[in-house]
Amino acid sequence: MNQRNTSAWWSATRLLLMLGAILLAAAAAHSEDSSAKTSDGQALFEQHCSSCHGMQGHGDGIVSDQVLLRPRDFALDAFKFDTDADWVRGTDADLANVIRNSPSVYGGSPLMPPWAHLSNDDIEALVAYIRQLQG
Ligand code: HEC
Repeated sequence: MNQRNTSAWWSATRLLLMLGAILLAAAAAHSEDSSAKTSDGQALFEQHCSSCHGMQGHGDGIVSDQVLLRPRDFALDAFKFDTDADWVRGTDADLANVIRNSPSVYGGSPLMPPWAHLSNDDIEALVAYIRQLQG
C-alpha cells in the first residue's frame, strides 16, 4: 500500500470504530430503558445483596470473609429454609420470606438483615434474579 492508500484505510477504519462505539452506546442506553420499567432484580441484588452473596451469588462477597457464616453458593441450589411448612425448601415463596424477614426468623443466621421495606415487586425481581444466577 502506498502512503495515500494507507491513510485512507486508517480514516475508514477510524470511522468504522466510531460508528461501532456509537452503536454500542445506543444499545446500552436502550437496554437500560427496557429494564427500568419494572423492578430490576440485578440492580437490586448488586446494590443490597452482593456485598455478602457476591456479584454472581457464589457466597463470596467482599464482607463474606469477615462474617462467621458465609452465605452458600446459590448455584448449588442448597437452600435451607422451608418458611411456609409445605415440606419443600427453597421455593420462590421461601426465598421471598427469607429475604423479607431475614433467615433468623426461620432459625437461621441473623447476619442477613430483613428487607421488609422492599416492595413485593422488588422481592419478586430478586427471587427471579437468584433463579437466573443458579444458571
Ligand atoms: C450481611 C450479609 C448479607 C446480606 C447483605 C444479604 N444476605 Fe442473604 N444470606 C446471608 C447469610 C449469612 C445467609 C445464610 C443464612 C443461614 O444459613 O442461616 C444468607 C442466606 C440467603 C438465602 C438462602 C436462604 C436459604 O433457604 O438457604 C437467600 C435466598 C438470600 N440470603 C438472599 C439474599 C438477598 C436477596 C439479599 C439482598 C436483598 C441478601 N440475601 C442480603 C448474608 C447476607
